[in-house]
Amino acid sequence: MASLPDVMELCLEKARDWVQKASSIAVLTGAGVSAESGVPTFRDAAGLWNQFRPEDLATPEAFARNPKTVWEWYNWRRSIIDQARPNAAHFALAELQQRVSRLTLITQNVDGLHQEAGSQRVLEIHGSIWRLRCTECGRVWIDRSVPLKLLPKCACSGLARPDVVWFGESLPHDVWQTAEVAASNCDLFLAVGTSAVVYPAAGLAKTAKRSGAKTIEINLEPTPISGFVDCTIKGPAAEIVPKLLTAA
Ligand code: OAD
Repeated sequence: MASLPDVMELCLEKARDWVQKASSIAVLTGAGVSAESGVPTFRDAAGLWNQFRPEDLATPEAFARNPKTVWEWYNWRRSIIDQARPNAAHFALAELQQRVSRLTLITQNVDGLHQEAGSQRVLEIHGSIWRLRCTECGRVWIDRSVPLKLLPKCACSGLARPDVVWFGESLPHDVWQTAEVAASNCDLFLAVGTSAVVYPAAGLAKTAKRSGAKTIEINLEPTPISGFVDCTIKGPAAEIVPKLLTAA
């Protein structure tokens, strides 16, 4: 009987082969892809949702009740992300995009590290921590200052909020549509560093599988999608993702 390391090695071989043969790849990333850059995840033992209550910090109601508290928390997160640099997983995904005729990178992360690593046309389905949005006129702009002076205002004098998706809010329509089309049309789907519990993002793996794509998951732990993907590779993203690009 094959031992566990052998099984992992076989899985990696299979995954490398699929990556080499794929002409259209969709990748969904989550907080785990940035963990090795020093950005906290949400649901691991030291994750943000084990230290803070999302209903106090990541809902429109929380912002309406106490915008200063919410902004202070986002300022703290911005300061961590500002110090973070892309890791080998971000760089490998950017390189893979150069090699494959079509690669759509869909991220739940708001940190901008994929773009910093060189990925193009990144679909930020949960928004960006570097963008602000006016709660009055809807104008969106980028402000990279750390810390941001509170409370930030729009030119129209309306209060600005982080341009991220909070619990109970819809995903940006066009960005999400593009992500769904990519998942439906790819021949290989990779889920990297996501707990796959937050919908609709978590549904993309099933969409891809139903449409006939090979599906690969890279994570430290099993997730709800582990049971139906074609191959789960257990390990840190910064170690495993670059291995997918090396010759089999
Ligand atoms: P989670 O914190 O829920 O999950 C992170 C996943 O990454 C877990 O499954 C870990 O096992 C895995 N992981 C941690 N370190 C890793 C590493 N070095 N290599 C590979 N995997 C690793 O983060 P997300 O799945 O991104 O939404 O969470 C989804 C959404 O929930 C977030 O976008 C955020 C949150 O509430 C909003 O803010 C709207």
